[in-house]
Amino acid sequence: MAAQVTVLAAVRGTAETEVVLALGVPGSGTTVTRRCGDVVELLAAAAAGAGAVAVVSGDLPGLDRETVARLHGSGVRVVALADGHGAERLRALGVDTVLDGAVAAAVGDGLLDAIRDAADGPGLPAVPAEGGAPSPLPDGAPTTPGRVVAVWGPVGAPGRTTVALELAAALAGLGPAAGRRGRGGRHTHRTERTDPRDVLLVDADTYGSSLAMRLGLLDDAPGLAAACRAAGQGALDVASLARQSPVVAPGLRVLTGLTRAARWPEVPASSLEVVLERARELAAFTVVDTAAPVEADEVLMYDTHAPQRNAATLTALAEADDVVVVGAADPVGIQRLVRALEELREAPVVVPAPTAVVVNRTRASAVGPGPEAAVREAMARYAGLDDVVVVPDDAAGLDGALLAGRSLAEHAPGSPVRTAIAELAARLHAGAAAVATPAT
Ligand SMILES: Nc1ncnc2c1ncn2[C@@H]1O[C@H](COP(=O)(O)OP(=O)(O)O)[C@@H](O)[C@H]1O
Ligand SMILES: [Mg+2]
Repeated sequence: MAAQVTVLAAVRGTAETEVVLALGVPGSGTTVTRRCGDVVELLAAAAAGAGAVAVVSGDLPGLDRETVARLHGSGVRVVALADGHGAERLRALGVDTVLDGAVAAAVGDGLLDAIRDAADGPGLPAVPAEGGAPSPLPDGAPTTPGRVVAVWGPVGAPGRTTVALELAAALAGLGPAAGRRGRGGRHTHRTERTDPRDVLLVDADTYGSSLAMRLGLLDDAPGLAAACRAAGQGALDVASLARQSPVVAPGLRVLTGLTRAARWPEVPASSLEVVLERARELAAFTVVDTAAPVEADEVLMYDTHAPQRNAATLTALAEADDVVVVGAADPVGIQRLVRALEELREAPVVVPAPTAVVVNRTRASAVGPGPEAAVREAMARYAGLDDVVVVPDDAAGLDGALLAGRSLAEHAPGSPVRTAIAELAARLHAGAAAVATPAT
């Protein structure tokens, strides 16, 4: 006879007795090992390995995406009793099985089967199920998922945010049309693009966000935190993501970052994954500005469920189709960049090989005459890279743009920084097109 399936019950009210009795019947093949009063108890029991399947009430307080992910992380499958509490929402949380209808009916019909099926299901840990009905797309929008571009780089302010912002602007087609220049007022051109969807810029730098400030969204509530909160509750769809991401220039949306670094736990991996998944529906490109640190919290390694300080950066890198690494073009910056590229290969998540390595603020005063050649030579020698994107220094242009609260594409489209980054954007467009139309 098969072993008994161990069950953690976190069921509210009178239904608990019903469930526990039904599961305790001899021959049921199940045994309730813990009766948990709340989510905290449930997570503790799961972490202690006390059960294989959790049976939870649909309205259990604190039951969110993160909870389900943590149960999965402990190897526990989740069966939820909807009992009129939104089966769709429960599926969107990543619950393995949702029993619709009243508890009494569920206990009579499907509960035992559901538990046995859940226990026999494919092993965990797996990626939490991405449930939920597919979200509606804007009319006429292509159904190919948009691409996620993570912009990352070492510490020392090499220009991650600058590159992320200008890249997003360039991908959105912002920039000069020949012969016309912006003079006073917002005056922006948008070149023709094949994908009508917007470009979304996400500030996921949980150490020092700055995009709201740079785009003059001064008193904006952090859109990313709100989007993550909705994702955690299984309530984030394309429309709600769009509501959190104001359009700051034609074709360019921004999801602003945390206003205080201490709020970093508000961007857990399990939620950011969903935000990026929805972003792929909303936007042709989602450019994610990240923080520098990528190490896992060693002290917490024994507790795989503890929130990780660097989860936002690691998630962005792991989910990215394109990784753009940014370093600074001075001796210290280049040394950090070379080490950063190694660090990326050894990161605790699998990160795609960089699509582009950008060496920013290239100038003679930092690396000597012929700065571009010097930078290329250094990168070839120390990093074995003969293909780097060299971005010149333009302090006046960037300071002016910062002061004006705009991208260079809008404020100083003639800047050589913008031109260099526009070439990078062209490279990403080409990569996306190659994926969209495989060789025939
Ligand atoms: N190519 C460049 N030329 C001149 N200044 C730059 C350039 N790139 C970045 N900067 C400036 O350097 C500072 C730090 O850039 P930022 O993008 O915020 O770095 P990070 O996001 O890596 O911390 C900003 O004041 C920015 O305007
Ligand atoms: Mg930054």
